[in-house]
Amino acid sequence: MSVILGINAYHGDSSAALVRDGRLVAAVEEERFRRIKHWAGLPIEAIRYCLREAGMEMRDLEHVAINLNPRVNNVRRALYLLTRRPDLQLILNRLKKRTQTRSLEDSLRAAFPGGAMRAKVHYVEHHLAHLASSYLCSPFPDAVNVSVDGFGDFASVAWGRGRGQDLRVEGRVYFPHSLGIFYSALTQYLGFPHFGDEYKVMGLAPYGQPLFLQQLRQVVRCQPDGGFELELKYFRHHRENVHYTWNDCSPEVGPLFTPALEQLLGPARSGSDPLLQRHKDLARSIQGMYEEAFFNLLNALHKKYGGERLTLSGGCAMNSVANGKVQIETPFRRVYIQSAAGDAGGAIGAALIVAQKFPVAPVATQTTGGEPAMVGRFRMDHAYWGPAYADTEIAALLRARGFSVPNVAAENLAPSTARAETAATVPASSVGALVDPTDFQLTDFRSCPDDLCRETARAISEGLVVGWFQGRLEWGPRALGNRSIVCDPRRADMKDILNQKIKRRESFRPFAPSILREQVGEWFETDADVPFMMQVFQFRAEKRPLLPAVCHVDGSGRLQTVDRASNPLYYDLINAFREITGVPMVLNTSFNENEPVVCRPEEALDCFLRTKMDLLVLGSFLIRRRSR
Ligand SMILES: [Fe+2]
Repeated sequence: MSVILGINAYHGDSSAALVRDGRLVAAVEEERFRRIKHWAGLPIEAIRYCLREAGMEMRDLEHVAINLNPRVNNVRRALYLLTRRPDLQLILNRLKKRTQTRSLEDSLRAAFPGGAMRAKVHYVEHHLAHLASSYLCSPFPDAVNVSVDGFGDFASVAWGRGRGQDLRVEGRVYFPHSLGIFYSALTQYLGFPHFGDEYKVMGLAPYGQPLFLQQLRQVVRCQPDGGFELELKYFRHHRENVHYTWNDCSPEVGPLFTPALEQLLGPARSGSDPLLQRHKDLARSIQGMYEEAFFNLLNALHKKYGGERLTLSGGCAMNSVANGKVQIETPFRRVYIQSAAGDAGGAIGAALIVAQKFPVAPVATQTTGGEPAMVGRFRMDHAYWGPAYADTEIAALLRARGFSVPNVAAENLAPSTARAETAATVPASSVGALVDPTDFQLTDFRSCPDDLCRETARAISEGLVVGWFQGRLEWGPRALGNRSIVCDPRRADMKDILNQKIKRRESFRPFAPSILREQVGEWFETDADVPFMMQVFQFRAEKRPLLPAVCHVDGSGRLQTVDRASNPLYYDLINAFREITGVPMVLNTSFNENEPVVCRPEEALDCFLRTKMDLLVLGSFLIRRRSR
């Protein structure tokens, strides 16, 4: 047996994943346990969960893989230091990070005392881990693989052709040139200062015109070979010590742009300034410039390698708008992007690379989606790799909070539920304030699970805001039907209701639809499989007026395609909604207020009680807020 723990540590979205005999067993971001968005540091709680899921302890592990390798690209690093002479503090900070990464073994020993750690630590080049996180999880027997990022191991972009299990980095764009830095710097310039705010610029872009594209072509210069260069006078990251905080906290990044950018584009917006048409035009231009460079790269790679299959990874692979245009702007026809395409996903990529060094006998062949059979390759076709909670645990929590939950005779329960019925207790630390049970109506669907979806779908069709908590937590930033808030996509006022009751987010940001897989072609101008919400496509023109809550201003939607095999309960919920309304989709947004997506039932219950959510479905229990 080969068991490998992969980690993304000391970086945004720190995470852990466990791979056994080449197959993923568990994967989760640390932020879900620490309850701090994008938490960066050593992902101790995520590691603990992965080990628990595999029935192992730290001392049982033989291999740990991290998605950084301080030993690669050192000639490039040395040359840069000699020729560009950056700020001394910048050099010292980089050295500190290398030391931290190289002392990983000691840090793990300190975090997991009481047992000898035998595991050998493997350092996997950051971009190789990115490429592997998509290609080695894809259904493709061969593909062109591209990672587009901020920076990792002195490179911002990497690519390589994958054939079967064989995958290597065949080309890179090196520091200081980076599309990730370009997008982040311009996001800050537009007044969105937080780590991970780039998606706000993407959401704002359709409201503007690309009036600043000419100026931005002076900032990013596309090269005929597919590469690009930044005009460095507009950026600080290459010379100055930009403030980065990566340890035991939510990441923070200091200003990345220089005053020269304001001379080129006009004054930067501060977060409190109103959003003017100029800012919307700038957002559209930034997105346009990114797409120009991205497609220039992809087209050059297609010229070099050919083929129709492409996998994408790296932080910029979260740009679902650009991803949705790949089939229009390039000859690539099939695209795979896994649910945690950014740095979190590197934990899986690093583990899969190391797994190749310790092969086991080939496992069952997988043949789906018309792809040729592949022996021994793992295929990630769903995102449900995090913790799950049994109905018995949920019932115990509800009782501890004052709800009246009937004891159901064990013989009426499903076998797995019945087995755990008497064992569940709630840790004292999890018990919050008691509720007044007369404020709520609780219905127990444990003995009639088929009615749960019908009842919930009816509530959605009546315009209620529903928290939907089921099964294993999603891997990656998107809620995909297990930790989701679901609503009626047909209501023009649903976006405002949702923002007023829970989300309180910027009005320009769209909400996304989850749609039954077999209905995609009827509602969208595509029939692609998009299980992880990683591509935006256009709604068919005649359908747009029917779905005002999930159709963006430009007629697009960031869809999640839902098939029954991957998530039968969520599929049945949407199907029940279709039977009532004729519309095979629901609005799906993440189950949270302004925090990481909820992980445990306690957090879901607290979010429900804290906000004005109308209905909460926790496993088999439906809780309706009574109107007074
Ligand atoms: Fe990365």
